[in-house]
Amino acid sequence: MRGNKDFFVVFITVAGVLGFVVLLHFFAEESPLASRTAPVAAMTGLVDQGRRIARNCSPCHDMTSTRKLTQVGPPLWGIVGKGAGAVPGYKYSQAHASAGQSGVVWNESSLNRYLDNPKEFIPGNKMAFAGLHDDVERKALIEYLKTLQEPKDAG
Ligand code: HEC
Repeated sequence: MRGNKDFFVVFITVAGVLGFVVLLHFFAEESPLASRTAPVAAMTGLVDQGRRIARNCSPCHDMTSTRKLTQVGPPLWGIVGKGAGAVPGYKYSQAHASAGQSGVVWNESSLNRYLDNPKEFIPGNKMAFAGLHDDVERKALIEYLKTLQEPKDAG
């Protein structure tokens, strides 16, 4: 009987040590993975926040890939990387069209300034939007606008 009990104690100890080693291994594998996915998760959060903020824009802008011209403002699908005033078929104000002709391209920095204060960035443009003054909200919105295009590697 006593032999059995010793065997049992040894067995539990070995199993415990093995279990501990396996767990250690698991966490060691897990931590680099966690740090690799964290920025992606943070970015997804920002895009989601941007999507919510963009509800303020959709009364005037179509934001889908159908690029509807029926709204007050030009459709915004694919806007990042495009020149200002470059959506075919949309009638821009003279001020906005001239900005495009003078070389304004929509990238993170120009959108950041325009969306902060549209009237200051393009004086005389007809977008009736006072601006989004919160830096983080603008960043989130721009991250969202960047997603409004076909995936680069599609097809
Ligand atoms: C009240 C309507 C209205 C709202 C709200 C509005 N816009 Fe606009 N937006 C316009 C109009 C109109 C223009 C065209 C300006 C012109 O031609 O002078 C425009 C132009 C733009 C342009 C330039 C497009 C191009 O092709 O050069 C961008 C970018 C833009 N808006 C982004 C936004 C974003 C992002 C929001 C939400 C935060 C927003 N707008 C909210 C009406 C609006």
